Amino acid sequence: MCGIVGYLGTHQAAPLLLEGLGRLEHRGYDSAGVAVLGPSGIKVAKRAGRVRDLSEGLPKRFAGKAGIGHTRWATHGPANDVNAHPHTDGKDRVAVVHNGIIDNAAALREELHEAGISLVSDTDTEVLAHLVAGSDADTLERKVAEALGRIEGTYGIAVMHVDFPDRIVVARNGSPLIIGVGDKEMHVASDLAALVRYTTTVAHLDDGEMATITASGFTTYRLEATGLAATNRRAKTLDVDPDAYDAGEHESFMHKEILEQPAAAERVMRGRLNDRFATGHLGGLNLDARELRAIRRVKVLGCGSAYYVGEMGATLIEELARIPASAEAASEFRYRNPIIEPDTLYVAVSQSGETIDTLLAVQEIRRKGGRVIGLVNVVGSAIAREVDGGIYLHAGPEVAVASTKALTNMFLGFAMLALQLGRVRDLSIADGRRLIAGLNALPGKIEQVLATEERLEAIAERLAAAESLFFVGRVRGFPVAREGAQKFKEISYRHAEAYQTSELKHGPLALISPAVPTVAIVPDDELVERNVAALHEIAARGGPLVVVTHDDVELQGLDAERVVVPRTERELDPILLTIPLQLLAYHAAKHLGHDIDKPRNLAKSVTVE
Ligand code: F6R
Repeated sequence: MCGIVGYLGTHQAAPLLLEGLGRLEHRGYDSAGVAVLGPSGIKVAKRAGRVRDLSEGLPKRFAGKAGIGHTRWATHGPANDVNAHPHTDGKDRVAVVHNGIIDNAAALREELHEAGISLVSDTDTEVLAHLVAGSDADTLERKVAEALGRIEGTYGIAVMHVDFPDRIVVARNGSPLIIGVGDKEMHVASDLAALVRYTTTVAHLDDGEMATITASGFTTYRLEATGLAATNRRAKTLDVDPDAYDAGEHESFMHKEILEQPAAAERVMRGRLNDRFATGHLGGLNLDARELRAIRRVKVLGCGSAYYVGEMGATLIEELARIPASAEAASEFRYRNPIIEPDTLYVAVSQSGETIDTLLAVQEIRRKGGRVIGLVNVVGSAIAREVDGGIYLHAGPEVAVASTKALTNMFLGFAMLALQLGRVRDLSIADGRRLIAGLNALPGKIEQVLATEERLEAIAERLAAAESLFFVGRVRGFPVAREGAQKFKEISYRHAEAYQTSELKHGPLALISPAVPTVAIVPDDELVERNVAALHEIAARGGPLVVVTHDDVELQGLDAERVVVPRTERELDPILLTIPLQLLAYHAAKHLGHDIDKPRNLAKSVTVE
């Protein structure tokens, strides 16, 4: 959510900043801007719209070898030119880019107003530029520290000042900031994606940390009441493939990421299944068999699609380990003063590892003495660092706003966790082996679903014509329906509502008509006959049906389009049933001509509450 870049070195900053912003656009794409510091001071160019609009409109003479840039997802004030970052002190002596939210911005604006300072934008960030400019401290570091001391809220910031042209000062509190070390040049970004083309030697700042970047290096320190204390953070070289951050020949990141799922699935399971003892082998949990046995309940927390996969995971854990397990939206959890139990295992699920609602839930649990593990994709992210242990998802970078491969790997993470919890209880060795064989076969079966893309495309085009759709399922199939509806609505902008098939007759059946199609999840499980009976009730009201199911399922003469997925172990069905729904959403959105990777009003990784 919002992206920050910064550069200081021997090259012109603007083209590098624009390139970096292009790579961060999935973080926010309401507006974009850059500021460069050159011989004639600070120059700012910013505007509502995409990075390419900014780039096309950039003045010819925009020279400077230090600069900062931002791509915005609006929180305070509409997405217009004035509210775009960078923000300045009005005299172009100080420029600031900021991710996060300043909670006491209104009070500070009022104070500045009373001091005769007029602010031009509606943003909270502009306040920060004025606070830095107004500080009497003798160094830029102290000016920034003083300004940060006045604000309450979250931030990742980068600051330039005309009086200190050799440096950029950055700070983090709740919003990621990474420093990249190049050859006689330094980079800054809120996401690795903006850096990897230039360097893979990076340092992640911690919350409460600041850094000074100069062309020759960086120094880090911690903001303390008594001043700035050195933290001596060192950069590390990461083993990342820069090409993984490019869409390559794919027409969108989402399509690339859907197709990457078989390989990603293999990666998350590699070395984590123990055939001999028929169990999961998840060393990162930091839980031995005795501790695993002591767990009486599992509570999964995540947001959006991660929450829906969390529901799939909770069902799996209950089935395999026979301990009560449930999932809850992390965004709601801490506001109902939840009871934190010492024998409950809390599981935070997050692709980005930066979703603030999930992070705050983790912090609340830990504050109250609970034990939390993470299922997280981004290595070293805030949630990954906050939890007591966990499972990295190894899905590779996910750029499209609509999550796909990370979700598949979350499901597989849950399957391995459920297996491990089950095998220290009464899950038999035979069942353990059955599930391991099922898991090992999944990448190939995902491949088989992907091979049906052409047919799914044709169905998607028909679904795209409807203004409103239902996605229905039961028990294992219900979170699949929720995730299917979520994916469909977020990129096609069609109203898609998920419902339990069993609940339709208690209300929503009133909405069924020839104009409202239903996508029904009907695995060949214990509920198949009841499911099919409910679908006949939809068909009797003229509702068009797409049924995602297994071969040989007897639909009793139902007039429906059938989408068949390969059979697997029943407990693992949800993941194979989910894959066609990704392609339905993708092709509906494509048919409607939408920007698939950057759906309106959304951003990857929501770092504000
Ligand atoms: C939907 C989607 C979002 C995320 C949610 C949580 O496709 O991507 O609903 O799942 O914002 O994000 P993470 O997993 O980064 O915590």
